[in-house]
Amino acid sequence: MKKAIIIGASSGIGRELAKLLVRHDYIVGVTARRTELLTELQTELTEKCHRRTMDIADTANTIDIFNSLIAEMGGVDLVVISAGTGHSLPDLQWQNDKATIDTNVSGFVAIATTAFNYFVKQGHGHLVGISSIAAIRGSRQAPAYNASKAFVCNYLEGLRHMAMKTKLPIYVTDIQPGFVDTRMAQGDRIFWRASTEKAARQIYRAIERNKPHAYVTRRWRLIAWVLKILPNWLYKLG
Ligand SMILES: NC(=O)c1ccc[n+]([C@@H]2O[C@H](COP(=O)([O-])OP(=O)(O)OC[C@H]3O[C@@H](n4cnc5c(N)ncnc54)[C@H](OP(=O)(O)O)[C@@H]3O)[C@@H](O)[C@H]2O)c1
Repeated sequence: MKKAIIIGASSGIGRELAKLLVRHDYIVGVTARRTELLTELQTELTEKCHRRTMDIADTANTIDIFNSLIAEMGGVDLVVISAGTGHSLPDLQWQNDKATIDTNVSGFVAIATTAFNYFVKQGHGHLVGISSIAAIRGSRQAPAYNASKAFVCNYLEGLRHMAMKTKLPIYVTDIQPGFVDTRMAQGDRIFWRASTEKAARQIYRAIERNKPHAYVTRRWRLIAWVLKILPNWLYKLG
């Protein structure tokens, strides 16, 4: 039986993926800050689910908690970092941007480095990060969010190259969602919003195929292509 840990599984994409992995015979470890939602998920998934309450922005404690979960589960083959946050406000506020950076960058790196080093030591493993289509260009609505997701994409590429150098079966996957129906995708500018079930199925397929990268849903490849080629003068009008 394979073992997976999902960071940020109390709601949204991470929660749905935890359920899907259990249906595919994984033992899962789920983490987030909202203990009551994790407890509810654990009750649903029974003994196939372990849990830890953790705030990944609190990097001093995050690594110890993550390691204790790995120990309780007797190892881990797959780590998915789904935890993420962002603020879309008309004015810039340091406290909001700091929260985004603490979670999406510092917390992400704390888990990614610990998982990667663990995989090198055990000789195999798979790390999955959830970035975003938002990583492709800057945004005046949420500058810190887009920049943090660009960091995630770039960092995962670096880890992928490090993994290749080890010649070990260690895989690194970057999932770039468009819009998925969670609390993170609300508002009137939302389109092509996929259900969490569909997103989880496509993420699972990418994991099974050890893909380096996947757009979720797949049609967002088109938007990514447009965003990449759109000239600045036109993009800034949007
Ligand atoms: N939904 C979309 O349209 C969309 C599009 C592109 C990318 N994404 C990315 O997909 C990922 C999952 O988001 P979602 O859409 O599923 O939204 P969500 O329902 O809000 O899920 C976010 C998860 O991250 C956890 N989390 C947030 N901050 C955390 C922290 N400091 N420490 C630990 N856990 C934390 C949350 O749990 P607690 O609050 O309980 O801690 C929750 O389980 C995020 O990285 C997001 O940026 C989403």
